[in-house]
Amino acid sequence: MSASENTLIPPELDAEFEELAARYPQKRAALLPILHRMQEVHGWISPEVMEAVAGWIGLAPVEVEGVVSFYPMFRRRPAGRHLVSVCKNISCHLCGAEDVLAAIEKRFGLKPGETSADGRITLQAVQCLGACGYGPMMDVDGTYHEHLTPDSAVEILEELP
Ligand code: FES
Repeated sequence: MSASENTLIPPELDAEFEELAARYPQKRAALLPILHRMQEVHGWISPEVMEAVAGWIGLAPVEVEGVVSFYPMFRRRPAGRHLVSVCKNISCHLCGAEDVLAAIEKRFGLKPGETSADGRITLQAVQCLGACGYGPMMDVDGTYHEHLTPDSAVEILEELP
């Protein structure tokens, strides 16, 4: 499928992917960065996005789906306006990540993997985000919030527009 036939991969994105794929010995090796970029652009990895990527990269859609379903960082449902990722790996866990997560779940009435009814927040529990010395921590739309308490985490999220 060429870029002109694929509205999910417009020409500028097609050019970006060509440049990206040129860094690898095989086009298919660029699958992960391409999926990340598609998620940034489209907000999630829909079946149509998987099909478009498969067509672009020369894989069967089922192969792309296998990769998307393997990695928890790929969203297979539309996300809310704010993406909240609470680290629950060992360092954060030992510093109270479970209490932080429980407070968020209770206040906003959602479990990891869910989006609040008003579409404001998508919550996910994730593995280490590389800020292990500053736990418990969460990433909100790409900004790290560290040394959280259950109350401070809820406050941060309440202030989101
Ligand atoms: S364990 Fe939480 S950031 Fe590493």
